[in-house]
Order: sequence, then structure tokens, then C-alpha cells
Amino acid sequence: MKRKDIVPTQIERQMRDEDFIVSKTDTKGIITYGNPIFIEFSGYSEAELIGTQHNIIRHPDMPRAAFKLAWDTIQAGQEFFAYVKNMSKDGSYYWVFAHITPDFDQSGRIIGYTSVRRCPKRSAIEALTPVYRQMLEAEQAAGARDAIAAGTKVLVDLLNLKDMSYEALVFAL
Ligand SMILES: Cc1cc2nc3c(=O)[nH]c(=O)nc-3n(C[C@H](O)[C@H](O)[C@H](O)COP(=O)(O)O)c2cc1C
Repeated sequence: MKRKDIVPTQIERQMRDEDFIVSKTDTKGIITYGNPIFIEFSGYSEAELIGTQHNIIRHPDMPRAAFKLAWDTIQAGQEFFAYVKNMSKDGSYYWVFAHITPDFDQSGRIIGYTSVRRCPKRSAIEALTPVYRQMLEAEQAAGARDAIAAGTKVLVDLLNLKDMSYEALVFAL
């Protein structure tokens, strides 16, 4: 079944405090490793996950601009933190607080990425849900070609209003 055929449901799976959801990808975002909790939350088998694009668990409520910011940051060799809403194979959703880092070889070249996710704070999910919704609405109104710029503008306007960097905002939630 393709991700686009999955109907999102209102059923939530919640991470436990002691959980760490870990996955690794190559430089193109193809999954190369997932720990047992990653496999459990995704609802897919390990065989279905390995070798597949990480967007297999993308939730349609997530704005594209969030992933653009993530990729720009990690491809520049930096770490990235984000609250992400993911979708399991059965259409249920689960929120995570993700930390993505580049993996380097001995010469400093990026050879892939690792993401470690922890249980997110409820207050952060509540604060971010309307922000992601506004970003998504702006993206949908702008159309495919201008979507990322429109979604990014919503986020940048919010950061300017709060006079905060993206990372400061994430940790203030
Ligand atoms: C290490 C790593 C972990 C990722 N984890 C997630 C994730 O948990 N959920 C998600 O939707 N995208 C994740 N992504 C981003 C996806 O690769 C993809 O960019 C995103 O789902 C948007 O899909 P799209 O590029 O097809 O629009 C991750 C990327 C990397 C490199």
C-alpha cells in the first residue's frame, strides 16, 4: 500500500517517556536502519522500511516548509531539532521531538543522517499544531510551485514577531 492511499485517522499513539525512536538514512533520505521502537510506531515491518524513502511515515498535516528547513540545515552539516507529526501504516498518528544529525566520514564528508526522537511535551504539541496548520494552509493556497516559500514565510513572520531563532523557539515550547 502506498502512503498516499492511507487514510489518516484521529487515533493517536503516544511515545512513552523511556522511548527513543531511532532511524538512519543515506544522503538521499532512504532508510538504512530503524530500531525496534521505530518499527513498532511506524506499523511497517523492517523489510518494508529498509530501502524506502523516510517520507513513508510523513503525515499530510506536516507543512513542506518544515522539511525544507530540516534538509537545508542537515545538508549544511548542522544538527536540527523539530516537533514532527508522523503517520503509521494504519493511518494513526504520533508526535515526536526529533533530533537529526549528519553522519560524517573521516574526511568530513556527509555519508548519511541519524534521527533520535523522544517523547514530546504536550504543551509544545498544542502550541505548534496551529502554527503547522497555518503553514499548511498558506502552502495549499500558494500552489505547488510557491508552497515552500509561503509556508516558510508563516514561520519566519512568527519568529520575527517573537524575536527568536527557530531553535530558541523549539526549546522555549
Ligand atoms: C534521518 C532522517 C529522519 C527523518 N525522519 C522523518 C520523520 O520521522 N518523518 C517525516 O515525515 N520525515 C522525516 N524525514 C524527512 C523525509 O526524508 C522527507 O523529507 C519528508 O517526509 C517530506 O517528504 P517529501 O520530501 O516527500 O515531501 C527524515 C529525514 C532524515 C534524513
